[in-house]
Order: sequence, then structure tokens, then C-alpha cells
Amino acid sequence: MIKNICCIGAGYVGGPTMAVIANKCPDIKVHVVDLNEQRIADWNADDFSKLPVYEPGLDEVVKEARGRNLFFSTKVDEAIQEADAIFISVNTPTKTYGVGKGMAADLKYIELCARQIASVATTDKIVIEKSTLPVRTAEAIQNILKNTGNGVNFEVLSNPEFLAEGTAVNDLMKPDRVLIGGSETPEGQKAIEALVAVYANWVPKENILTTNVWSSELSKLTANAFLAQRVSSVNALSELCEHTGADINEVSRAIGTDSRIGPKFLKASVGFGGSCFQKDILNLVYISKSYGLTEVADYWEQVIIMNDHQKRRFAANIVKTLYNTVSGKEISLLGWAFKKDTNDTRESAAIYVCDELLNERANIRVYDPKVSASKVYTDLDYLDTRSSEENESLVSVVNDPYESCKGAHAIAIMTEWDEFKTYDWQKIYEQMQKPAFIFDGRNLLDVPKLEAIGFKVYSIGIGK
Ligand code: NAD
Ligand code: UGA
Repeated sequence: MIKNICCIGAGYVGGPTMAVIANKCPDIKVHVVDLNEQRIADWNADDFSKLPVYEPGLDEVVKEARGRNLFFSTKVDEAIQEADAIFISVNTPTKTYGVGKGMAADLKYIELCARQIASVATTDKIVIEKSTLPVRTAEAIQNILKNTGNGVNFEVLSNPEFLAEGTAVNDLMKPDRVLIGGSETPEGQKAIEALVAVYANWVPKENILTTNVWSSELSKLTANAFLAQRVSSVNALSELCEHTGADINEVSRAIGTDSRIGPKFLKASVGFGGSCFQKDILNLVYISKSYGLTEVADYWEQVIIMNDHQKRRFAANIVKTLYNTVSGKEISLLGWAFKKDTNDTRESAAIYVCDELLNERANIRVYDPKVSASKVYTDLDYLDTRSSEENESLVSVVNDPYESCKGAHAIAIMTEWDEFKTYDWQKIYEQMQKPAFIFDGRNLLDVPKLEAIGFKVYSIGIGK
């Protein structure tokens, strides 16, 4: 029976996931550890609005469990030593060097965790892959644990996380399914049962799927690939709609009512972002290539190619519509997060659209209700297209959306934040340069209302 959990990695997955486990299982001690001292300090903040991850409802969940059976600290060794089960929830970004650069997942943080667990543990442990990993990573983890450990037994399980940011608490409280993969040996099955028992505290048994380890690892990459593929499919059609007079919102509704297709993930957009879709598909492409499966690799790579095209096309359309030059013009970007209800900006389409517009010498103002100015500049600096001084002089980040739009030639909606729908658009119109343009990258706003005010509106995939 699992009574003491350690989670290595207090990020967007480790933090919320463990908070919900602690909340639902008051008898289990949950200790979340991270090397990043600031992140841990933020998880321990007295002011719950300062938690490092913004997710609706997360503050309440943390408030109930923190200090009771939920603990955040940097004491990695101590937490490993005490635990029966260790979740590895560290980042697995795309490699930026060496073999597989730009495609393969960088597993250095995973390996470091495995080595640390092996060197510290003096009692048997269940080690659980919570991070998203290439299929067959469990084999490598098991090897490291066995060959560098102190002779204790380790059982490696795969338990990928399917939460989406912005709805993490709800996704964790009521998951469509929990997936647990383990080895088919009696020890493997025993470990699976122990983890099933944890989730069974709140998840109906029929929603807890058990498989072999490889199926579990591969299902996670595949689920993200399928979801992203739907977005790229609908975005590909959005361009065709613009040329044919069809309306992508109508097409999505029409196809989504087919119960075999379903209505979700059919919303055309400026392109998907987030830390995982691109990374996981690139990883799938890399794995396929490494097995010599060229057609399989090319098939999935097209999802990324389409997404890059959609972001570039959106920026190019702004330039074209503003009479083929945005040099010296003021453009207000509303939203910087990769989707609403999160403060996460990783791979956000806004970053790339901003970069394209800066290449055309536009002046950019950014407003996002949850993203700090320093984050915006870090994202732009990370692209390495121009110096941080240039980014700071060309981009201003403001706290007030009206200020962001005042005197602007155009507004681009980059994130589907609900609050954008409730703005006083008449007031915004009066304070803008004329003609006043809105490029709605999320098809969020009420177009007839805006056009009645006088705005010229571009929506994704609406043919005229
Ligand atoms: P993150 O970057 O937010 O968090 C990872 C944390 O791990 C960081 O705080 C980092 O400091 C810490 N860390 C790295 N190495 C460490 C070590 N050796 N010891 C202690 N701490 C260490 O990443 P994330 O978004 O939480 O993603 C984690 C994993 O979960 C990734 O594999 C990702 O693909 C997967 N995933 C993410 C999401 C999501 O919505 N973000 C959803 C499902 C799965
Ligand atoms: C995604 C998956 O939905 C989760 O199941 C998975 O656990 C997670 O990746 C992960 O592995 O990290 P997330 O990236 O947080 O979750 O958010 P999504 O809701 O999937 O949105 C991803 C991107 O697609 C966003 O930029 C969103 O705006 C965009 N999107 C989504 C669209 O453009 N159209 C849609 O119809 C849906």
C-alpha cells in the first residue's frame, strides 16, 4: 500500500497533480520537491494568488492540503528516502544539441532523477513516469536503477498525465481515464495494483486503464498527436475557407455533429501552442525515423508544418492588410498565454506572431491578464532574433488593455481570454488610428457588433 509519495518536479504537472492526490487522499503524505528554490518558495507562499502555476480552483485545493499532507520543499534526497512511490514529473524538452537536435526529447533531467533515486534509496520503491517520455524509456530507467542502486528493488510504472492547462483541476478531479502501464511480472502487477488503489480514492475503477509499459508510454504521445492533428486539420481548412467563401466555424459545427468525429478540438486558431504538442509530435517523428518508418514520420511532421504555416500566415495577413507595411505602426497584441486560464506562455503563437511583426519593424504593445512583463521579454529574448535591448525598445507590456490599444493601428487577439469579450469596444475604437483593424486569431469576438462600430475585422477561416 502506498502511504508516502514523493514527486520530483513542482511544475505545471507535478504541482497540480500532487495537490489533487493529497486533497483526495488525506492519509497519504505527498512531498513535492524541486531544485528550483524560487518555485518551491512560491508554492509555499502565504498569499495563494502567488502560486507559481495559475489554474482556476488550484488555490483552494492547495489551501486545503498544504501543511496537512501536502509539502513542497527542495529536500529531494529526504523525500526520496521516505517515499514508497516516486513520481518523476520533470521537464522533457526538445533537445537543442547533439544527435536528435530539434526533435528528440532531452532525457537528461529524467536520467538525473533515476540516478539520484538509485543512489539515495535504501528501501524498495515504485518509480512512476509521470513526465511524457519516448516509448521504451522505462527500460533505460530500470537499467540505471538496477545498475547504480544499493541492491533494493525498483518497479517502474508509466502513468502519463492527460490534464490540459487552464482546466487542470477539473481534469484531475474527473479524468476521462487514468492510464497505468507496468511490467507483466508478478512484481509489476503488484505495483500497478498499488497505484490503482491511490487513484481509486476518487476515480471510478472502470476509468483506470492498465496496460503494458510500452503501450502506456506510446499512448501519451499518440493522444497529443491526435489532438494536435485535429487543430492542424481544421486550420488547414480555415485557409481554404478564406479562399472559397466558406466559414470555418460553420464547417466545424457541421462536421463535429457527426458522432464519429465529435465537436471538440475543431476550433480554428492562429495555431496551437503549449509546451507539449510540438515537442511530443517531434518526438514521435524522431522515434518513427529511428525505426526507419519514413512515411509514418512524414505523416506526423505535417501537423507541425501546418501549425508553423498558420502562425506565419496570420502575421503576413496583418502586414498585407495594413497596406503592406507595419514599419513604425503600433500593433496591440491582446493575450500572450498559449490559451486562456493559464499563465503559461511556452510555444505560444503570440511569441512567433510578435517576432514576425518585429521583423517588419512594427512597434508592439502586449497585454495579458496573467502574464508578467518579464515573461514576455524572456520569451522574445529566447528566440535570439534580436538583442534584449531591441526587444525592450520595440515592445511595451502594459497592465491595462485600453492603454494597449490607445493610438494603435491594429489589434490582434492572440489568446481567447473571456474578458476580451466584455471590453468597451466603442471606447477602444474611438482611441485608435483609423481605419481601425482587428485580427481575431481566436474567432472570439462578436464580428457584426465590431463592424457596426466601424472596425475592419479579420477572422480566421471566414471567407468573404
Ligand atoms: P515544468 O517545466 O513546469 O516543471 C518541471 C520541473 O521539474 C521544474 O520546476 C524543474 O525545476 C524540475 N526539475 C527538473 N529536473 C529536476 C531534478 N533533477 N530534480 C528536481 N527537480 C527537477 O514542466 P511541466 O509542464 O510540469 O511538464 C513536466 C512533464 O509533464 C513533461 O514531460 C511534460 O511533457 C509532461 N506533461 C505536461 C503537461 C502540461 O500541461 N504542462 C501535461 C501533461 C504532461
Ligand atoms: C494538451 C492536451 O490537451 C492534454 O491532454 C495533455 O495532457 C497536454 O497537452 C500535455 O501533454 O501537455 P494543453 O497543451 O495544456 O493540453 O492545452 P490544449 O487545450 O490541448 O491546447 C493546446 C493548444 O491548442 C492551445 O494553444 C489551444 O489554443 C489550441 N487549440 C485547442 C486550438 O487552437 N483549437 C482547438 O480546438 C483546441
